[in-house]
Amino acid sequence: MSLSQNKFKTELLASYHNKKEFCCGEAMLDNYLHKQAGQDVKRKLSVCFVLNDEQINLVKGYYTLSNNGIPLNLVPDLVRKKIPSSYATLPTTLLGRLAIDKRYQSGGLGKLLLVDALKRSWQLSLEIGSFAVIVDPLHDKAKDFYLKYGFIELPDSKKMFLPMNTIKQLFS
Ligand SMILES: CC(C)(COP(=O)(O)OP(=O)(O)OC[C@H]1O[C@@H](n2cnc3c(N)ncnc32)[C@H](O)[C@@H]1OP(=O)(O)O)[C@@H](O)C(=O)NCCC(=O)NCCS
Repeated sequence: MSLSQNKFKTELLASYHNKKEFCCGEAMLDNYLHKQAGQDVKRKLSVCFVLNDEQINLVKGYYTLSNNGIPLNLVPDLVRKKIPSSYATLPTTLLGRLAIDKRYQSGGLGKLLLVDALKRSWQLSLEIGSFAVIVDPLHDKAKDFYLKYGFIELPDSKKMFLPMNTIKQLFS
């Protein structure tokens, strides 16, 4: 994947961002940004990074990150056998939501936003251990998007993961 991120800068969601007009076509993801993201940030449940069009003050895209864990018995055998069984739960990073406003979709921003989230997750994993980035795609189209970037489906779950050691290879 191309890692060119010229003129691409995500920032923490703040009160001055115009999030009311954000529309990605998925009501759940739109409503989350409109109504809940700010509250979750205040409560330290997640962090929300936005890509802002400064000229017209419009949020072009956003994603959320938080700590989570997945039961060791959920990961595929090939991965599980390399992990000490004392880790009943694997520490992971949840990329809970990722969306691009309809006006900006299909222009490469989804890919750039995903790369930004993966890079941030990898950098954080250098200070606080995290085995993988987890996503929980809303539907098959979203699943296809993540499959394209190497995410692996967790058996018996809608969730997908990308090992941090795979992500590391992209950035180091
Ligand atoms: C999914 C989403 C984030 C993709 O963003 P985008 O800016 O439209 O995607 P990009 O233009 O960066 O596309 C990047 C690549 O992914 C592919 N792609 C985009 N959407 C895809 C999908 N649903 N399934 C498979 N591939 C997809 C593109 O063809 C492109 O491939 P290429 O680099 O080989 O040309 C965006 O369409 C969106 O916000 N959708 C609504 C919310 C949603 O479904 N979020 C998913 C998380 S639950």
